[in-house]
Amino acid sequence: VRTYPPRIIVAGAPASGKGTQCKKIAERYGVVHLSTGDMLREAVQNGTELGKMAKQYMDSGRLVPDDLVIGMLKERLKQEDCEKHGWLLDGFPRTASQAQALLDAKIYPDLVLVLDVPESELIQRVVGRRLDPVTGRIYHLQYSPPEDQQVLSRLIQRTDDTEEKAKVRLDTYYTHIQAIEEQFSQVVHINGNRHTEHVFSDIVCEIDGVKGTFYEAGTKLQPFG
Ligand code: AP5
Repeated sequence: VRTYPPRIIVAGAPASGKGTQCKKIAERYGVVHLSTGDMLREAVQNGTELGKMAKQYMDSGRLVPDDLVIGMLKERLKQEDCEKHGWLLDGFPRTASQAQALLDAKIYPDLVLVLDVPESELIQRVVGRRLDPVTGRIYHLQYSPPEDQQVLSRLIQRTDDTEEKAKVRLDTYYTHIQAIEEQFSQVVHINGNRHTEHVFSDIVCEIDGVKGTFYEAGTKLQPFG
């Protein structure tokens, strides 16, 4: 019997659907969704010291230096909600050093999910992606456009969502993913090149397949396995 809540990593290339799936996982399992991309974009928007340092890397599609991201994430994982409800890491670790930093801090995931999507499809997804700045919802102009015209008119595009920058981000992903996977035992690949609901249903099977029952501050939660 486990005495801690679920801890899951979702990895995958840019636009493989990490954010889309993580929102659904967080809703279903009540875990805290931590996207390092979202955290960094927030820091940039708020003009914090971290944001000022991160901006140049993000705008060009390169990784933000490990020490900045590791510090930010470790601080966040220490907060009470993560300890209480468990966590879902979206976009971290991105390098072997980031993975090692988790293990050094004795932060062990129960499951590492890797979303696989072919490169040509990833580029289509990147260039068509739009964000709703009001709700934070992710859309795609062809695959999942908003029905409401008002929402459509306020959608924004990320500065790194061009084909050129997506290629830099993809190369970076392919350079690091194998070394990251080698550091964890519970790695499962999911075919992310299907309808969102089909991808999610496979993810649910994998999460439910992690045996054990999770407890929250001494209170029994819904069985997690
Ligand atoms: P980050 O925000 O993490 O970007 P990313 O990894 O490039 O991933 P994306 O957000 O682009 O895509 P996603 O996989 O979440 O896909 P989504 O669900 O949106 O990082 C941005 C930058 O921050 C990095 O380049 C780096 O500079 C920095 N950074 C972040 N973390 C870092 C770290 N740990 N270390 C160092 N630097 C870091 O879906 C994409 C599109 O496809 C959407 O339009 C969606 O509607 C559509 N879609 C989703 N699923 C499907 C489906 N099944 N079928 C059809 N369309 C779909």
